[in-house]
Amino acid sequence: MPAVSRIDSLIAAMTLAEKLGQLTMTASSFTVTGPVIAGDSTESIRSGALGNLLNMVGPEPVRQMQRLAVEDSRLKIPLLIGLDIIHGHRSLFPVPLAEAGLFDPATWEATAREAAIEGAADGLAMTFAPMCDVSRDPRWGRTVEGPGEDSYVASRMAAAKVRGFQGTDLAAPDALAAVAKHFVAYGPVTAGREYASVDVSERTLHEVHLPAFAAAVAAGAAAVMPAFTDLAGVPLTAHVPLLRDWLRGRLGFDGVIISDYNAIRELINHGVAADLVQAAALALDAGVDIDMMGDAYRQGLPEALQRGLVSMDQVDAAVRRVLLLKERLGLFDHPYGRCGTVEAPEALARRRQLARSAGARATLLLRNEHEVLPLAAPRRLALLGPLADAPGEMRGPWWAAGVAENHVSVLAGFRAALPGAQVLHAAGVGIEDAATEDAATEGTAAAGIAAAVALVEQADAVVLCLGEGAAMSGEAASRAHPVLPGRQLQLAQEVLARARGLERPAAVVLFCGRPLVIPELVELADALLVAWFPGCEAGNAVADVVLGRVGPAGRTPISWPRAVGQIPIFHGQRNSGRPENPRDHFTSKYLDVPNTPLFPFGHGLTYGRLRLSNLRLHGTVLRPGDTLEVSVDAVNEGGRAAEETVFLFTHDPVAGVARPLLELKGFAKISLAAGQRGTVRLPLRAADLAYLGPDLRPVLESGTVEVLVGPCADRSQLLAGSVEVAA
Ligand code: NOJ
Repeated sequence: MPAVSRIDSLIAAMTLAEKLGQLTMTASSFTVTGPVIAGDSTESIRSGALGNLLNMVGPEPVRQMQRLAVEDSRLKIPLLIGLDIIHGHRSLFPVPLAEAGLFDPATWEATAREAAIEGAADGLAMTFAPMCDVSRDPRWGRTVEGPGEDSYVASRMAAAKVRGFQGTDLAAPDALAAVAKHFVAYGPVTAGREYASVDVSERTLHEVHLPAFAAAVAAGAAAVMPAFTDLAGVPLTAHVPLLRDWLRGRLGFDGVIISDYNAIRELINHGVAADLVQAAALALDAGVDIDMMGDAYRQGLPEALQRGLVSMDQVDAAVRRVLLLKERLGLFDHPYGRCGTVEAPEALARRRQLARSAGARATLLLRNEHEVLPLAAPRRLALLGPLADAPGEMRGPWWAAGVAENHVSVLAGFRAALPGAQVLHAAGVGIEDAATEDAATEGTAAAGIAAAVALVEQADAVVLCLGEGAAMSGEAASRAHPVLPGRQLQLAQEVLARARGLERPAAVVLFCGRPLVIPELVELADALLVAWFPGCEAGNAVADVVLGRVGPAGRTPISWPRAVGQIPIFHGQRNSGRPENPRDHFTSKYLDVPNTPLFPFGHGLTYGRLRLSNLRLHGTVLRPGDTLEVSVDAVNEGGRAAEETVFLFTHDPVAGVARPLLELKGFAKISLAAGQRGTVRLPLRAADLAYLGPDLRPVLESGTVEVLVGPCADRSQLLAGSVEVAA
């Protein structure tokens, strides 16, 4: 039957309870005793009171659940089943913040595609990803799940991820419906505190936070999830101007809006609804179709309808969107189509190879004095620190169906990479071991550190693995002190001092879900490599880079602060009427730290040495519709091959509304062998120079615009030219 008439006849046949079932998604799991559905039962699927599940994984459990819906329920409507497949399903890739630093849309898309293939084979049809939230606050734990600080990067990554998850045909058995989340401006939660209220200007909302969602929708995202948070007092779950007017109205988004977990019920806590009836009415009225875990629609909408707070037409419109998505996913015709495609072993091997190369390339080399890295293959390596033998931590905070045992620890990676060598290991300290008053505990801690230092003496090279545990970033993992936890700095001091004394090359590998505030560690460590959380091939990837078999190609997608007090810190700041001047007291600066970050956006060393020269703007005047080709010559003056990233920024020095000092408009990659030359081309469209005028409508103004090209957002490293815009 054609989709529309099938859906029309279903809606005409549905009872209110069945309609509300289609608007409800409930958490589920499969235990030894069978399926468990939170606060509900499988009977609800049979009766039609439950139409969607999250977290049910595996072909057999999914088949069992689906059978209840399509064989035993009155209307035989298939279930929609979703899971947070953020950076891989069973085979995990690097966390999104790490991947963002690759500035490589092809890799962003490829890892999402592989994740979708694995997730779909497990019966899933929806992933609650990509996260499109720009973060300029490393205190916020969810920074790890997103694209970093830049809105342009966020947009490019959102589009690539949607393409990867959904593929070219949503009905294909290996496609997942993407959910662009968390709509919108979740990143600037007050003081970096999870779930806290947000208050940003309309301009920042439109310039910084909305573009990635527009990009996700333009790429065809099947669904959008509103953020838990409120924006200036209006919770996103009930935000009529943004959900109904902007997303549905202005962007024309006709897909499904799915609430975050319990978010409709939480409208009561926000203080905008007195009870579930009002909460449900507010969300439905704003355009939220599926109630995830709030059970507000089933409990609240019947009375809301009676009271006239919402209409049956609104209920039907939401049901229609949900059924249409099920139709687009092919679930009506092939309800079991996603269960259990058995993959050839080569497919799995290829996926792990992708995880390994993405994990290695995404490492971020912050510092490499005296070219400590790559290490010449040592005969005896001291592999130290609490993250050295921690396979489960390598997953980062979201792991879908990725089990810890499937992850290669750094220790295992080095043992495999150096078969003839001795790899000595000591953790030294636990990840979060804190100083205590207890003499016995202190004695044990000192002994742990001493044991690690003793191994330095026996080895001819040292790799020290430090950082956060996986659960220290992600949802509900804000940190007021985003520093190296526990006693790890002390471990670093003692290990690195000993290594220096003995002239042993020593490198620190840092695992983390956010930029950490680590000025002391940077002083101590000649070589500092950030691995973030690399995923299932972590140890192999780290060994590949440390031993120089793959070059680090990560560039930080977010500024690294010198001090917590600098947060929020990002490259796209405005100039101020009193720009920083160290000789003038009354200028915009701190008394105690410079304004600059410890490492700027885009910073990242390679094993090569990039020199850019000869910036050329192929044209002097840019008219509406024109594209200016910008090119720059690149040479690798180092002794090793490198994958380099080149950024294109602009600055409009005089505009109706002051523009940020740097606006990212493009990036490009170039791989250069030692000594090799090349040319990087970066197109700049006139439309890229339009900005939101005083009334928030796009304007392209005539005048001079600076064009800046270079390796990162440090202005002193950028080559500058200019172009005349003739609007
Ligand atoms: C809450 C999180 O905010 C969201 O990102 C996630 O998709 C849901 N839980 C479902 O797990």
